[in-house]
Amino acid sequence: IDIKSLRSATGGVITLDPGYKNTGSCESAITFLDGENGVLRYRGYSIEELAEKADFLEVAYLLIFGELPTKEQLDKFDKDIKSHSVVDDDIKKILDAFPKSAHPMGVLSSLTSALTAFYPTSVDVTSEEQMYNSIVRILAKFPVLVAWTLRKKHGLPLDYGDNKLSYVENILKMMFKSPSSDYEQNPILVNALDKLLILHADHEQNCSTSTVRIAGSSHAGLFVSLASGISALWGPLHGGANQAVLEMLEAIKADGGDTKKYMAKAKDKNDPFRLMGFGHRVYKNFDPRAKIIKAAADEVLNDLGIDDPILDIAKGLAKEALEDPYFIDRKLYPNVDFYSGIIYRAMGIPVEMFTVMFALGRLPGWIAQWREMRLRNEPIGRPRQLYIGETLREFKTIEKR
Ligand code: ACO
Repeated sequence: IDIKSLRSATGGVITLDPGYKNTGSCESAITFLDGENGVLRYRGYSIEELAEKADFLEVAYLLIFGELPTKEQLDKFDKDIKSHSVVDDDIKKILDAFPKSAHPMGVLSSLTSALTAFYPTSVDVTSEEQMYNSIVRILAKFPVLVAWTLRKKHGLPLDYGDNKLSYVENILKMMFKSPSSDYEQNPILVNALDKLLILHADHEQNCSTSTVRIAGSSHAGLFVSLASGISALWGPLHGGANQAVLEMLEAIKADGGDTKKYMAKAKDKNDPFRLMGFGHRVYKNFDPRAKIIKAAADEVLNDLGIDDPILDIAKGLAKEALEDPYFIDRKLYPNVDFYSGIIYRAMGIPVEMFTVMFALGRLPGWIAQWREMRLRNEPIGRPRQLYIGETLREFKTIEKR
């Protein structure tokens, strides 16, 4: 491209970077990611250590406020969240209006947006205190919306949580409690969900997070900015990959389990099929989250005594891909979503809810990024373009076209 023509067309030189592959949109102190070496850290702490030693609420606090909480800080955070765990009953009417077949991500995005109408003070966040109130409110209500979305699908009554339980225990109980029997916590599932949510909690300027930041940069409120992020997460090239992976593995199983056939399809440039759960925009070595989650999948299935042929197909595909020049040359490795669906399935979570579970995990990251953007007084996000359309044309009336 000739720079002179760029100047005359746009009034200034524009950096063209489709997909923002090499464009930094902000400075951030939240998540460190080194894609070449497979390193991921939240606020300086390695993801491996956090997944092993912390729980999800501690990690949420760390991401949002920058430091691991003391016992007092964590207790207060937990208490403040619990004090907001009731969702206006009229939200149930909105939920009722959705068809049973509605995709849970569409429902969740709509309900999150709708919360703004019920809690209008959440929009105006000029002080840190107002910000804090919006943050604990959404951390409290989001799991309720998630649980209700699932329960509505299963035709179960819409309940609230149990304030005696931990954040993650409460999520599981709200989702699965049957109206006819007592709910018993399964520590294996609590531990697995804690891990999964921590691993998904932030990932610097990915598609949904950038969406949250850019929507929020217009000073739209937190809840609607999050709703925009949920919509961005839905797509199969992003959060929707976990659903797509499981559907792909099911399809391979139904087709006789011939992984080689699907490897060939993925490599065929005339076939739009991609091996879902492989490749990552930033990780060009391995996804450190995938390593942790693969071990967790083995552990959970083992502990629950589940022998899942889908896991064997997944392992077969991963092994073949790791030895295949096509995948090696393009640095395509299993990503976090390659294994997460297997664990969610073992937990009894339906496939359509997988991306919702991702959103639940990503919530603190979105909040942290939105808060950082507002506290740094970042300008409104407004990329430019390279115009490639017609030059000035004369208008023709409809009879003359
Ligand atoms: N299967 C087969 N080929 C692939 C795959 C795949 N899963 N992913 C990338 N490729 C190939 C592309 O065809 C391209 O080949 P070419 O150079 O011969 O044209 C090359 O690898 C580079 O791919 P791009 O699409 O340019 O890479 P990009 O960084 O833009 O995309 C993405 C990354 C979207 C994740 C891609 O790898 C993909 O579609 N993966 C499958 C979907 C998926 O798992 N998404 C989840 C991402 S993780 C997350 O969001 C949490």
